[in-house]
Amino acid sequence: MIKIAPSILSADFANLERDIKKVSSADYLHIDVMDGAFVPNITVGVPVVKSIRKCTDMFLDVHLMVEKPVRYVETFARAGADLLSVHLEADHPTRIAEALKIMGDCGVKKAVALRPITKAEAVLPYIEELDMVLVMTVEPGFGGQAFMEDQLDTIRKVRSIIEKYNPACELEVDGGVAPDTAPLVIEAGANVLVAGSAVYGAADIPGAIAALRT
Ligand code: DX5
Ligand code: ZN
Repeated sequence: MIKIAPSILSADFANLERDIKKVSSADYLHIDVMDGAFVPNITVGVPVVKSIRKCTDMFLDVHLMVEKPVRYVETFARAGADLLSVHLEADHPTRIAEALKIMGDCGVKKAVALRPITKAEAVLPYIEELDMVLVMTVEPGFGGQAFMEDQLDTIRKVRSIIEKYNPACELEVDGGVAPDTAPLVIEAGANVLVAGSAVYGAADIPGAIAALRT
């Protein structure tokens, strides 16, 4: 089954509760945390995740675009995240492994995220313990960018690694997913589609979510 994860980066932050309710027919709620160092943009942090947790029962998929995420995973887990993604480029491998261990101890689902430059094989040291791999199809930092078609190859390679070592692991794709690119990422092996502008920019939001699933 294909799951849709609307990104609140394209929502109106002054009306976040209203905009979260608009996507209640989706599967996950994707929250982009950016620190202004790992990526050039700054978005939201722990207090916002805590407030969102109080106003929705949706599965909170928190994408940490921050340097040295091991410093923050416990706090985000306690704030109510259901899943945390840490970028493989954001710290030394031993500290990524440590971040994953802390997530396990906190009972939160574990994901690693790959910038477009990172090879699919980079997930190999962690694959057996992961709940999800997130493949970026834009440079992380901003919503509304063009889908990078080159990344279809990475999606295919990650899918074959998942099938070999951990078939229950989900494969999420993030960046430029829209009605024209969704079939391509699904065909390449993705099962969770993040969409910011394609969902919040649509006149009929439930219709846009349903259209992306097919
Ligand atoms: C970008 C973020 C994405 C972003 C996607 O760094 O990780 O989640 O919100 O936005 P769209 O779907 O508009 O490309
Ligand atoms: Zn994201």
